[in-house]
Amino acid sequence: MRLTILGGGGFRVPLVYGALLGDHAEGRVTRVVLHDVDAGRLRAIARVLAEQAAGVPDAPAVTVTTDLDEALRGAAFVFSAIRVGGLEGRAHDERVALAEGVLGQETVGAGGVAYGLRTVPVAVDIARRVARLAPDAWVINFTNPAGLVTEAMSRHLGDRVIGICDSPVGLGRRVARVLGARPGEAWVDYVGLNHLGWVRGLRVAGRDELPRLLADPVLLGSFEEGRLFGADWLRSLGAIPNEYLHYYYFTREAVRAYRQADRTRGAFLHDQQARFYAGVAEPGAPALELWNRTRAEREATYMAENRETAGAGEREDEDLSGGYEDVALALMRAIARDERATLILNVRNRGTLSPLDGDAVIEVPCLVDASGAHPVSVDPLPDHATGLVCAVKAVEREVLAAARSGSRATAVKAFALHPLVDSVNVARRLVDGYTAVHPGLAYLG
Ligand code: G6P
Ligand code: MN
Repeated sequence: MRLTILGGGGFRVPLVYGALLGDHAEGRVTRVVLHDVDAGRLRAIARVLAEQAAGVPDAPAVTVTTDLDEALRGAAFVFSAIRVGGLEGRAHDERVALAEGVLGQETVGAGGVAYGLRTVPVAVDIARRVARLAPDAWVINFTNPAGLVTEAMSRHLGDRVIGICDSPVGLGRRVARVLGARPGEAWVDYVGLNHLGWVRGLRVAGRDELPRLLADPVLLGSFEEGRLFGADWLRSLGAIPNEYLHYYYFTREAVRAYRQADRTRGAFLHDQQARFYAGVAEPGAPALELWNRTRAEREATYMAENRETAGAGEREDEDLSGGYEDVALALMRAIARDERATLILNVRNRGTLSPLDGDAVIEVPCLVDASGAHPVSVDPLPDHATGLVCAVKAVEREVLAAARSGSRATAVKAFALHPLVDSVNVARRLVDGYTAVHPGLAYLG
């Protein structure tokens, strides 16, 4: 079985390949095709993978190409993990927003809108090519903003594109752990949009254990989201929000902390990865060792400013593993081997959340088998959450409309309607600022 990875020169590809190396069952991936627009990055990552594969007799064969159509033909699964504009683009997304005094972040707020505006046209082109060249392939979308990009692709691929994220799994795991539930025995009642969801319950043997957590200040203080949001606020909500909701509930503090940081996350990663790719290109460089070191440093500094602002402390070590590569592999196995699994995924709503239409991509527990991912029915969201979900979905729809029409006014509308952008004038300046620095936004005129 052949797996194609778009963004194959990306830093997280060895995580995926590492997960594949542990799969020896029948029907596993035997061939991996890496596609990237940057041949140098492809070479570097291929060297890391070659070192990972050393000593593994049934390691999937790896080939690399910069030809997209060639990469897609014959693929059973396509992982899309591209970063349009690279980390330099991410740093611009963050910086331009922060200079306007609004949140500058990879996927949330103005930064996420800018990232979406540049990514959607590229994702749509990929979706069209998949529909033509590999119509039976399943597309697993990791590309951020994952919900929005999955929805853009679903207009061409229907339910054959499924979006993934590691954050709901990580949250569910942390909540289960503090409640003493064994992994696998807990049902996590989680729903929303990508990076905008809430754990409303955690059922073990049919019993909801979340009230016990919310009632216990010591338990609440013992895990990351408990410290990040604070016991009082979590009790008021009656739910545990995804860590990304910190940007909505503590906007002022998050913006202040980000503005005070010497550099943005994107700028940090840009410099770090430039060193990594240059290092691997040296003759005889220990590619895997360099990758491992860089990865450890990256994960240790994840969302550091947020955690600092909230006094939430360091992320626990065991949270640094079991991320999105495991979700991707579990999803691919469930489909390829028709092994029923329940996973939190980004799929079309199909009536699950009634305020949204059927084509709106949401993040929700799904039953997965060979026929694809099917959202399970969930309780309605409370009004405050519905309000945020609908507001952000409306913004995503404006992004899709702007990408289709090339209308600058529609792009302004997308920024202006975002709950984290506080003035239409700010939205206008954001469009000016972003179009000035992003070649990928030239289509906005
Ligand atoms: C989590 C999110 C991803 C996001 C990443 C950013 O894993 O689920 O969607 O891209 O964090 O991490 P980074 O190390 O790039 O700041
Ligand atoms: Mn994510």
